[in-house]
Amino acid sequence: MRRCRNFDDVNLEDEYWHEGNPIRFTNPEIRRMLSLAKAGKDDVFCDFGSGFGQNLIMALTEFEVRKAIGLEFDDTRALRSRKRMEELGLDKRGNGKIIFGNFLDFDDAELRKVTILFYGLSGGDEIVTRLQKVWKDRKTRRRLIWNDWHPIPEAFPDEVDYPFFLTYFPQTKKRYSARDWLERVVLQPETMTPDKIRRSETDLWNEFVHNMDVLQFRDDVADYRKRLRKVS
Ligand SMILES: C[S@@+](CC[C@H](N)C(=O)[O-])C[C@H]1O[C@@H](n2cnc3c(N)ncnc32)[C@H](O)[C@@H]1O
Repeated sequence: MRRCRNFDDVNLEDEYWHEGNPIRFTNPEIRRMLSLAKAGKDDVFCDFGSGFGQNLIMALTEFEVRKAIGLEFDDTRALRSRKRMEELGLDKRGNGKIIFGNFLDFDDAELRKVTILFYGLSGGDEIVTRLQKVWKDRKTRRRLIWNDWHPIPEAFPDEVDYPFFLTYFPQTKKRYSARDWLERVVLQPETMTPDKIRRSETDLWNEFVHNMDVLQFRDDVADYRKRLRKVS
């Protein structure tokens, strides 16, 4: 039986949290994220703001991606994730790489080699603008994965496994209405919305605001309103 190591004893209770969760998702949630992206042997997976590197660890051990790269600007976290990957044999030998630095400084030529990017931070509009320039070629179906904490109005969710959303690049839907975007983002899981009532844009918007409130991101709502108006 092959051993699959995708865990260690990190004890997150002892960690500082001012840079956000060092590991944001449980392994079952990460499986959901990587399955949605159809991650596999031909892929280069990248996490912008990789924390303790758990998404990279899962991508390498279970989904056997060709390479996994994390960008992390907090020195303690960069060091810690490097050490975790080393101990699991997932450093150079296992095609894992942690770059200590700001993802804004990640070279475009390197970003072009990435096929799946997880972006779980705010500022998704800037990421989309960058990917539209760098991920132009149509031969590779590159995927951006984002999640419910920081939805991205500038990216149409082509596929969804809530709380994860996937957008193909180059973007397949160049123009869409605010209503289409909200419907995709709000009415999830799609197969579990039993009534077939067509919601108005206002109702969808109000439900979106409710969800952001529950997630404690209510302060971001005004910005989402502006961004949604701009794209549609
Ligand atoms: C909420 S944690 C999530 C960690 C990881 N992506 C996960 O899903 O488990 C976000 C991380 O992004 C890092 N970060 C935020 N902005 C960054 C930037 N501009 N460049 C590199 N790292 C960044 C933070 O230091 C933090 O560790």
